[in-house]
Amino acid sequence: PLLLGVMGDPIAQSKSPLMHESALKASSIQGRYVPLHVLARDLPRAIEGIRAMNFRGVNVTVPHKVEVMPLLDHIDEAACRIGAVNTIVNDHGVLTGYNTDGIGYVRSLKEEVTSNLEGSTILVIGAGGAARGIIYALLQERPAQIIIANRTLDKAEKLVEEWSDIGHLTAISMDDASKAASEADIVVNTTSVGMVPDIHELPLVVESYRSGAVFSDLIYNPLQTEFLRQASLQGCRVHSGLGMFIYQGAYAFEYWTGVTPDIEKMRQAVL
Ligand code: ATR
Repeated sequence: PLLLGVMGDPIAQSKSPLMHESALKASSIQGRYVPLHVLARDLPRAIEGIRAMNFRGVNVTVPHKVEVMPLLDHIDEAACRIGAVNTIVNDHGVLTGYNTDGIGYVRSLKEEVTSNLEGSTILVIGAGGAARGIIYALLQERPAQIIIANRTLDKAEKLVEEWSDIGHLTAISMDDASKAASEADIVVNTTSVGMVPDIHELPLVVESYRSGAVFSDLIYNPLQTEFLRQASLQGCRVHSGLGMFIYQGAYAFEYWTGVTPDIEKMRQAVL
């Protein structure tokens, strides 16, 4: 049988095993997808174990997405620029790292709310690891511009400079983000503000909402954050982080098996 899994610390809370086992079953593929509790100090030996035990692939989650990179044989170009790997494919002992978080997010956004991102103005709140994956993938869709608002302005400015060759990026402070949010076509929260247990917190107070705008959150616990709830009350379209989680998994599943998984079965398993 095909061996798959997810490495992280902690790992017990991960919904990936349930989601991938339902995809394996729906595709009639003999295989297992197991949670692998790996401490940071054991990561190099755990990666060796993937080769030794002939796992076809693993997902990599917190806190290993960056540290795993030098342990692999190849890194896909997008993952290299993003600076993080969430999916490893094992081809007979040769390990390649990919990042399916950003493309999973964009796929979900296009399937669930807005099919054409070309020419749009996108405001991204946050400039951390999650933001990097999303922004890199969004840039491939040729938006007019992406504005990055971050609590630490300096970090957003560094990212804008780093990727000035691949798109029109602007950094702003959180003080200027409310105005930018009322003018953007798409507003994405990539911070953890509003996640369980702090479900009443907002990453940004938006003063006025533009009809037709899309508000999106990477958080999927709760399924509808306070940030999305307020946007929805004002008539905006909203997009939760659940789709990103499912599609990042779906892309990984395709890389490992060559089979397109049943998205609805995966969604049901997670819910
Ligand atoms: P992740 O991989 O989830 O993106 P990260 O790399 O630590 O995690 O980045 C967290 C992002 O959320 C950062 O942009 C961070 O802002 P700073 O760069 O100023 O730290 C943002 N963030 C986290 N907690 C926040 C809070 N309470 N208010 C505003 N921004 C916050």
